[in-house]
Amino acid sequence: MIFIGTTNPGKVAEIAALLAPLGVELKPVSLDIEEPAETFEENARLKALAYAEHTGGVTISEDSGLIIPALEGLPGVWSARFADLDVQTRKVTSSGRSREVIDRLNNQRVLELMQGIEQPRRAALFKVALLVAQPGKVLFQSVAECHGWIAEEEKGTGGFGYDPIFVGQDTFGKTFAELDPMRKNLRSHRKRALDEMFLWASQNRSLL
Ligand code: IMP
Repeated sequence: MIFIGTTNPGKVAEIAALLAPLGVELKPVSLDIEEPAETFEENARLKALAYAEHTGGVTISEDSGLIIPALEGLPGVWSARFADLDVQTRKVTSSGRSREVIDRLNNQRVLELMQGIEQPRRAALFKVALLVAQPGKVLFQSVAECHGWIAEEEKGTGGFGYDPIFVGQDTFGKTFAELDPMRKNLRSHRKRALDEMFLWASQNRSLL
């Protein structure tokens, strides 16, 4: 059995779909964990170890987000709560809003900041740091990216987070939210990181 440590139902669905061929039982777990670091790698490590401590077993954790070079790398590690971020002080004030509401506000904020910015400066990428840990020990880690650009407006209803404003390099101008889940899962940053994890898991089945 592998625990999946995340509070994000969109991520759980993607991880479960991508790891289904492993044939191992997956169990989502939800904990409220601080993400104090300024890199995805460090936040993912903190989360993975905290989740593994909590579950007592092998646990996948990840930290991911959207990076826009024209906005000095924002939303970056603040992707989940970008609408609540004070850009000057880089402090987040929790507004207590639901994930759906904050996702919409995050997208609106990115679109506002990108107004007047033209190609090729609309370039953006999703990045993920994915770790597998057991209590006290990181067993595996992988970092992956997926490149594209920011659309002029929100389009599509699929996926989660920034999917309605992110156009992939090879999605013929469609946002990730306009793709069916299988197509998004073929090309996403999460898919790339999970492919490596899949290989590791196949060679380390005795741990799972
Ligand atoms: P965290 O890793 O829980 O801190 O949150 C990452 C945030 O990045 C999510 O809440 C989304 O807003 C965004 N994000 C990460 N991966 C994706 C993706 O595949 N599509 C759209 N947004 C994503």
